[in-house]
Amino acid sequence: MTPAAPHHGERRVALVTGATGAIGRAIARQIAVHPDCEVVLACRDQAKAERAVREIVTATGNSKVRYAPVDVSRRSSIEALAADWRGPLHVLVNNAAVTPRTRQETPDGIELQCATNILGYFWMVQAFTEHLQRSAPARVVNVASYWAGDLDLGDLEFRRRPYNNNDAYRQSKQADRMLTVAFAERLKPFGVTVNACHPGDVRSALSGNLGFGGTQTPDEGAQTPAWLALESVGGTQTGRYFEHRKAVHCPFGAHRVSVEALYEACLRYPLVPRDPTRNPRGGRP
Ligand SMILES: NC(=O)c1ccc[n+]([C@@H]2O[C@H](COP(=O)([O-])OP(=O)(O)OC[C@H]3O[C@@H](n4cnc5c(N)ncnc54)[C@H](OP(=O)(O)O)[C@@H]3O)[C@@H](O)[C@H]2O)c1
Repeated sequence: MTPAAPHHGERRVALVTGATGAIGRAIARQIAVHPDCEVVLACRDQAKAERAVREIVTATGNSKVRYAPVDVSRRSSIEALAADWRGPLHVLVNNAAVTPRTRQETPDGIELQCATNILGYFWMVQAFTEHLQRSAPARVVNVASYWAGDLDLGDLEFRRRPYNNNDAYRQSKQADRMLTVAFAERLKPFGVTVNACHPGDVRSALSGNLGFGGTQTPDEGAQTPAWLALESVGGTQTGRYFEHRKAVHCPFGAHRVSVEALYEACLRYPLVPRDPTRNPRGGRP
């Protein structure tokens, strides 16, 4: 596979979810610094997203930055985004995530961290697989975390356990690392790599809900994901987990039986929203 780091004049298109947030916005900006990169901010809040686009365009001088609406907690919204997608997609950065303090459900009846942080990543890769394959060599970067563990395959939505946002978050970030391995194997024959990383410890809505202050700047936190999105390592390695720009052994990804069981569990989530009267594109009603 050839590296995705843009050679002069070579058009590269990147899509970043959650690019209104602390780390996502910095990832999008670090990619947009390359004048041959087009960056699409896939976000749910139009006003915030348009502000982020303006800021990134001003900061980088790259005018090929735009916004596309999506609610990544809803499969129908992701599928609508993928159906409307025109042109190539070389880099998909799954970054959007939430950590609500109380248990919430999407309009489709799925616990919100499971829907956003696990299924959102899963559905984005699924829905954009065809676009990525057509644009190969292409890559997926899953923003995960070192703060991960205790995934319960029998209770992904905290229906049997009492909900705790820290437990639900650690589970979801373990899942992101496991799904990275599942997709890496499946997409390797098509020239699409899939890697996961810990970004940095950054003060944000997400980390605040978990009670963490964060000691790094968003730009520092974006370094490893942006490096995987731009540099050759993200196109030559696949199925790996990175921290501080270094591959680290991931016990979650190494447990193949659980990886496949999680992949199968994600496949079972509904194709269509249970309430078709809701806006399938998501956004705030
Ligand atoms: N911060 C840290 O210290 C830290 C550490 C390890 C890993 N991470 C990972 O880094 C990533 C980014 O976290 P962050 O700290 O930058 O969080 P953040 O500032 O709270 O940003 C989260 C982003 O996700 C978006 N989002 C949430 N739900 C969405 C939905 N249903 N549809 C579309 N977009 C949605 C938010 O959009 P709105 O602006 O509309 O709310 C926001 O843009 C996450 O995957 C997180 O797990 C963060």
